[in-house]
Amino acid sequence: MSKSPLRTMGQQFGRRSWAEPWKIKMVEPIHMISREQRAEALKEAGYNTFLLRSADAYIDLLTDSGTSAMSDRQWAGMMMGDEAYAGSRNFYHLEEAVQTYYGYRYVVPTHQGRGAEHLISQTVIKPGQHVPGNMYFTTTRLHQELAGGTFVDVIIDEAHDPSSTHPFKGDIDLDKLRSLIRRVGAENIAYVSLAGTVNMAGGQPVSMANVRALRALCDDHGISIYLDATRMVENGFFIQQREKGYADQPIAAILKEFCSYTDGAWMSAKKDHLVNIGGWLAVNDYDLFDALRNMVVIYEGLHTYGGMAGRDMEALAIGIVEAVQDDHVRARVGQVLYLGDLLLDWDIPIVQPVGGHAIFLDAKAFYPHIPQDQFPAQTLTAQLYLDSGVRGMERGIVSAGRDPETGDHRYPALELTRLAIPRRVYTQAHMDVVAEAVKAAYDAREETTGLRMVYEPKVLRFFQARFEAVASEE
Ligand SMILES: Cc1ncc(COP(=O)(O)O)c(C=O)c1O
Repeated sequence: MSKSPLRTMGQQFGRRSWAEPWKIKMVEPIHMISREQRAEALKEAGYNTFLLRSADAYIDLLTDSGTSAMSDRQWAGMMMGDEAYAGSRNFYHLEEAVQTYYGYRYVVPTHQGRGAEHLISQTVIKPGQHVPGNMYFTTTRLHQELAGGTFVDVIIDEAHDPSSTHPFKGDIDLDKLRSLIRRVGAENIAYVSLAGTVNMAGGQPVSMANVRALRALCDDHGISIYLDATRMVENGFFIQQREKGYADQPIAAILKEFCSYTDGAWMSAKKDHLVNIGGWLAVNDYDLFDALRNMVVIYEGLHTYGGMAGRDMEALAIGIVEAVQDDHVRARVGQVLYLGDLLLDWDIPIVQPVGGHAIFLDAKAFYPHIPQDQFPAQTLTAQLYLDSGVRGMERGIVSAGRDPETGDHRYPALELTRLAIPRRVYTQAHMDVVAEAVKAAYDAREETTGLRMVYEPKVLRFFQARFEAVASEE
């Protein structure tokens, strides 16, 4: 045997290896176009990876939303679609799965997460009210603002520091919430908007201790808590791994306990639930349910399909059960950790600790010479694509948008490029290719220059904005 033998992944981490709890039955070929073609495609897309054609991306880490591979059972479920306009049997399967695994009483289906955000925001927020939450999410905050609310960030300070290794960077700072309640009065708070895990902070979890304490504080003031449950299963995995007393509990039990401290939840099922489309809203209060059920028919569809086909609801109901299996979540988050550990070992600046669904590259640390209004994270995202065909997404100043009152850019502390890993789609070899691509972009950091925005949509500008390269002497 050689002096430094090759080591398996498990051996590298001082344990026996484990593998994904599935085998591949169908494959979709992918292909890398040439560097010249990528340069051309990037220019045509205005340096915005949302505007690339997917055929031009080699490893597509734009998002983990709607990009998962469904199981053979989910595909079989697609064939069992009951496409009746009203009362589809698939809706009742979905309703039962949500009630069983999330514990809420009443379920309203929606076409995806933002459909649910729209309904809850319009129904619960009175114009002028505040909506405190653990860091904003783009579509969530926009719907809260469109309903006349003002989002207030009450996440702990560590969440804004990419190098802080706090185990629960998604936690709410209860003192910040208390001081908001004192300042504006509980009656001017629509609800607490709690997300698990926190996407914009790097996929960071909320602890059970924090949600329990939050419940007690909100009970004292008669404030409701609504949960963005989009990646709550992954949050459950981190509680199991990191929080005292939960190591021996199944993720399904942790999920249900967490939800029990909240009054309802909205869901983009395109993430945790392993489907390509779908969402739901669930609440415990009958009157609120009645209002939501009445509203869903205006914007989404009848209250027993909410914008989904019967077959989509069946795949979703099956996905809910698959999503909470411990071996699935360990493999899913484990793949993200594998990529993160490689990058950390190579001293590449990423958000720590590694989160549940994505690696977030710290673009400010990559490019200290690029001012934030020349879009460092947008630049890094473009560079990665140019170097290797890996498609990520900007999560920095472009995503943060403009302050509705002043019209100025919001300058978030976190200026990140997100590499989101679709569930059950890529292998460890793909992760190795991605790691080397990030290293190549890091090695070329000093000669990289920023971007200028040449087209800016009014809302959610990151989806469609266009950029041009800033020359090095500018
Ligand atoms: C945390 C979070 N909430 C809400 C949404 C919105 O969901 P959708 O994209 O299904 O409309 C997303 C999607 O990106 C998300 O990540």
